[in-house]
Amino acid sequence: MVESYKKIRDYIYEKTGIYIEEKRLYFFKNRVFRRMKKIGIDDPDTYYNFLVNGEYSENELVKLISEITVNETYFFREFPQLKSFAEYALKDVISRKNNKTIKVLSAGCASGEEPYTLSIILEEMLDGEFNYKIDAFDIDPIMILKAKAGIYNDYAVRDVPKEYLNKYFEKDKENYKIKDIIKNKVNIFNLNLIEDNTYEKLDDNYDFIFCRNVFIYFSDEIRKKIITKFYTILNEGGYIFLGHSESINRITNAFKVVKANDFILYQKPWNKGGNVNA
Ligand SMILES: C[S@@+](CC[C@H](N)C(=O)[O-])C[C@H]1O[C@@H](n2cnc3c(N)ncnc32)[C@H](O)[C@@H]1O
Repeated sequence: MVESYKKIRDYIYEKTGIYIEEKRLYFFKNRVFRRMKKIGIDDPDTYYNFLVNGEYSENELVKLISEITVNETYFFREFPQLKSFAEYALKDVISRKNNKTIKVLSAGCASGEEPYTLSIILEEMLDGEFNYKIDAFDIDPIMILKAKAGIYNDYAVRDVPKEYLNKYFEKDKENYKIKDIIKNKVNIFNLNLIEDNTYEKLDDNYDFIFCRNVFIYFSDEIRKKIITKFYTILNEGGYIFLGHSESINRITNAFKVVKANDFILYQKPWNKGGNVNA
């Protein structure tokens, strides 16, 4: 029985890079079982076949991923880290930037709270001289629908400073709808971090990449693959922001490690004396 679940686990790893460690196998089994129950299958071997060879296999993989990934997110998550973005990294990039558009990528954006938070921060921080554009993506199509809708409950906005809540959201009964001035700056895509063609669809000159609380799902091998891609699409002098318990020190030394407000940021080095690319 356990072997069948391991086969399902390996298939997910092959397709998405999401790696379920041995110690999480019990949780994984429960989630797969929950999914099997929803579609009326009670045997993991039959389910494996349905997942891999069935007529709706691609669709089924997406449903299963939704079941096993945790989409937990909220506005202004890890506030001190966002302060280090606004007060340190952003100022640093602006001081060396040639053109006037700040470009940000939110990779693993879940239901959109992260890219919209960044949009609010940039709206507040940039004066008329600079413009900005944010691209955001997630593997989970259900999250993408929510992100595109831009409608949130009390819980999601619990850490939004009151002033911004009034300024950038429209309250409608129990819900908060993000205003167009913030929404229109964010482009949302359904993409997979580990597929090569994802990076062909994205730009190659981001100033900032946020990939927070996503690396937890991946093996070091996959993390390395993703970080290598990030390196190529990040401008010289640009920064990567990871979740506070995530680090890439073990994987690469291609980035300069910068400490700002007690947070570790990873900066792509630039040629001495040169300006930031792009
Ligand atoms: C815990 S949420 C983090 C959301 C947000 N970055 C934050 O920190 O609040 C992790 C997200 O990563 C997404 N994810 C997992 N594997 C992915 C992959 N291979 N490609 C793109 N997104 C992925 C999940 O669907 C989930 O929405």
